[in-house]
Amino acid sequence: MGGQVMVVVVVAAAVVMVLMSGGECRKGSGRVSFEYSAISCRAHSASITDFGGVGDGKTLNTKAFQEAVQQLSRFASDGGAQLFVPAGKWLTAAFNLTSHFTLYLHKDAVLLASQDIKSWAVVDPLPSYGHGRDAAGGRYISLIFGTNLTDVVITGENGTIDGQGGVWWQQFHKKKLKYTRPYLIEIMHSDNVQISNLTLLNSPSWNIHPVYSSNVIIQGITILAPVTSPNTDGINPDSCTNTRIEDNYIVSGDDCIAVKSGWDEYGIKYGMPTKHLIIRRLTCISPYSAAIALGSEMSGGIQDVRAQDITAVHTESAVRIKTAVGRGGYVKDIYVKGMNLHTMKWVFWMTGNYGSHADDHYDPNALPEINGINYRDVVAENVSIAARLEGITGDPFTGICIANVTIGMAKKAKKYPWSCLEVEGVSSGVVPPPCGLLADQGEEKLGMCDFPTENLAVDGIQLQKCSYRMKYNV
Ligand SMILES: *[C@@H]1O[C@H](CO)[C@@H](O)[C@H](O)[C@H]1NC(C)=O
Ligand SMILES: *[C@@H]1O[C@H](CO)[C@@H](O)[C@H](O)[C@H]1NC(C)=O
Ligand SMILES: *[C@@H]1O[C@H](CO)[C@@H](O)[C@H](O)[C@H]1NC(C)=O
Ligand SMILES: *[C@@H]1O[C@H](CO)[C@@H](O)[C@H](O)[C@H]1NC(C)=O
Ligand SMILES: *[C@@H]1O[C@H](CO)[C@@H](O)[C@H](O)[C@H]1NC(C)=O
Ligand SMILES: *[C@@H]1O[C@H](CO)[C@@H](O)[C@H](O)[C@H]1NC(C)=O
Repeated sequence: MGGQVMVVVVVAAAVVMVLMSGGECRKGSGRVSFEYSAISCRAHSASITDFGGVGDGKTLNTKAFQEAVQQLSRFASDGGAQLFVPAGKWLTAAFNLTSHFTLYLHKDAVLLASQDIKSWAVVDPLPSYGHGRDAAGGRYISLIFGTNLTDVVITGENGTIDGQGGVWWQQFHKKKLKYTRPYLIEIMHSDNVQISNLTLLNSPSWNIHPVYSSNVIIQGITILAPVTSPNTDGINPDSCTNTRIEDNYIVSGDDCIAVKSGWDEYGIKYGMPTKHLIIRRLTCISPYSAAIALGSEMSGGIQDVRAQDITAVHTESAVRIKTAVGRGGYVKDIYVKGMNLHTMKWVFWMTGNYGSHADDHYDPNALPEINGINYRDVVAENVSIAARLEGITGDPFTGICIANVTIGMAKKAKKYPWSCLEVEGVSSGVVPPPCGLLADQGEEKLGMCDFPTENLAVDGIQLQKCSYRMKYNV
């Protein structure tokens, strides 16, 4: 019985391979079968080659992608559709997604972002930011963009999206950009979003930006960019509710994950927080930035963030708070449990004077509220400074709880491992011993810092097994 099943599987695999290799070297049709997990499966399928796409690394496929999405959007109310991208190199400028839609990359598919800046459309700044981040005016639209969608999936078997960011980084350093650089993926005003099992390389700027969205799952993503590349943040949940970010591996030139909610007076006015966010099983390498940053744009508020099983190697700091006078908003009910850290400048870092304002019209009376920040079960090695906690004069950061933390200091560590200003809180079982502002509760209180045990709604989202057999024209 077992033997028979094996034979059938082997024969089927051989047939698929023959058809695929045949399809790759001459005109005709290809056939593939594949399986993946998704929030929903689709009734209709097509390949980018059905819309004239050419995966030779030279032909520009922007029209093919735009046409494909437009045609497949007709199936939104009829079981949805998926667009398959076969093995090959698919050069393209930006295109938009649609609802009840899946973009699926073959494991050897590489989307190459066009380096011709003129081929990128420009869109308005985000209302909660008022300005672009690189230049005051508009923003180049993201390579893969979606707005006002429901039920959208971007996945693959670790297929690649290569931002070819080098030209953008150069223009940025030379201060020659007229507009803000594009991101690789931006999904805005959307509900039920999945981005999974992909490799993202060399983004011009941020990699994945879900904004004003809810029920977002980001899973199994590898993000790679030079550690010196400018603003190549990994994943930036921004004014989002119910987000699950798990099993990701990120090497980047900026924060691996940056939780945001708008900038100064624009963010305060828009008033849309990021809340109910899960981050787990993250591995981060980012020598000049944080594993997880909260802020600095946090003017719509950040609440109920649960970070668990975080590994960081050669990263500047772990879970950092960045804010400033003028931001307003809040960062509260933050829970961090289980961090394994190796080679780090500061394990704990809170910054109340981050600056970096949208413009000069920020309200100097708009003080951020930072309260209820919990860290427990942390082991760190080769650390230069244990903590640098700096609240705001007249606006201390309160309710800080740090417990069960062992920090191995580097041979060349600084003389004073802790520095604290304008902060209030408690500690237990922390080595080296913390500053007096974090009142020591004694060794028996190792478990005292909160970590919620009840699940969030986003934990309950089940992935279905989708499987396809597909014929396509090449
Ligand atoms: C990602 O890939 C892994 C390993 O192949 C698989 O177990 C998992 O179901 C996939 N998840 C998603 C959400 O695509
Ligand atoms: C994509 O969406 C943006 C924002 O809605 C819009 O400005 C742009 O024209 C769309 N692009 C295409 C090719 O439809
Ligand atoms: C998208 O949704 C936002 C927020 O609900 C709304 O303000 C905007 O008008 C919508 N845009 C389109 C093109 O429907
Ligand atoms: C995905 O590809 C990247 C880049 O080649 C690799 O580092 C990573 O290990 C791969 N992930 C999986 C799950 O195969
Ligand atoms: C302290 O943290 C370690 C991991 O660093 C964990 O194994 C242990 O269970 C924690 N102790 C308590 C009392 O929570
Ligand atoms: C310890 O950290 C320093 C930087 O502070 C680094 O140069 C060195 O390689 C690290 N040592 C180990 C054993 O990782």
